[in-house]
Amino acid sequence: MLLEVRELYVEFRTRDGIAKAVNGVDLHVDEGETLAVLGESGSGKSVTAQAVMGILDTPPARITGGEVLFQGRDLLRLKEDERRKVRGAGMAMIFQDALSSLNPVLSVGDQLGEMFRVHQGMSRKDARAKAVELMERVRIPAAKERVGQYPHQFSGGMRQRIMIAMALALEPALIIADEPTTALDVTVQAQVMDLLADLQREYHMGLILITHDLGVVADVADRIAVMYAGRIVETAPVHDLYKAPAHPYTKGLLESIPRLDRKGQELYAIKGLPPNLMHIPPGCAFHPRCPLAQDVCRTDVPGLFEVSEERRSACFYWRETLHG
Ligand SMILES: Nc1ncnc2c1ncn2[C@@H]1O[C@H](COP(=O)(O)OP(=O)(O)O)[C@@H](O)[C@H]1O
Ligand SMILES: [Mg+2]
Repeated sequence: MLLEVRELYVEFRTRDGIAKAVNGVDLHVDEGETLAVLGESGSGKSVTAQAVMGILDTPPARITGGEVLFQGRDLLRLKEDERRKVRGAGMAMIFQDALSSLNPVLSVGDQLGEMFRVHQGMSRKDARAKAVELMERVRIPAAKERVGQYPHQFSGGMRQRIMIAMALALEPALIIADEPTTALDVTVQAQVMDLLADLQREYHMGLILITHDLGVVADVADRIAVMYAGRIVETAPVHDLYKAPAHPYTKGLLESIPRLDRKGQELYAIKGLPPNLMHIPPGCAFHPRCPLAQDVCRTDVPGLFEVSEERRSACFYWRETLHG
């Protein structure tokens, strides 16, 4: 197993109170596997990713429990300099907003080359050649001519390719992509997603693909983990989940996707709002929005029940959901 997150807890202490952003997340990624992490905005996806990467600002964040086992080592127990080595060489991250993640006053060639100069002690000339090679790998046309250009001279889609190239530079075993296509036009979204999927296969990397949009990951993910109020509430191979969700929240998300074969029908939107993380409802956090909720859901927190060997659902009524 490449990455295993066990019972991760993260909270934010703010003037208004404690926001419980991550509440016992369990997830794992195998070598060469793509895991999509899906959930509405505010469900704790980015905070989980940042905790795994070791880039959470503490304070205001505080990791109050759990383990992040990467290639067998608990990253939460490493010293910062060891942690830094894992970042870049072991795992890398791609963010939604390339423009604010890239340095505006350095050419893309210098930024890509810096990875090799800093981590591998390469000469400026060799690093520049590597930068061009990487730009070609992420299919940026005329890489040789464009290597000296600055981030603002590239389109949104091309900039996101440069971010992908940065992440790939040291050939990490794991890449975490946090909403990598959310800021892009729909057609460009599909191209960037396809590229990421191709590179994932080519490099045999583990990939965590964070998204709030179930539509964009269907074709590229092996498994899906659905997050709600800082917990994984369902995890399943992607095709099983599409065929029959085992959690009412997943079911709601699926029924909210516009589908060509259901044209004209009204979209089912999950009623209500995600909970305030300072006041998460008792019992199942989803119960106020759940069409199946019973008394037990208002008082008891459901564990992750084993639906099948590869599937889990944090719903007391997963059987009813699966077959209903
Ligand atoms: N810097 C911060 N200060 C206070 N609370 C934060 C901060 N960052 C995140 N949070 C809390 O964590 C929750 C989850 O955030 P995030 O992981 O970014 O959600 P998403 O699933 O949209 O990526 C937010 O709704 C918020 O309550
Ligand atoms: Mg986010």
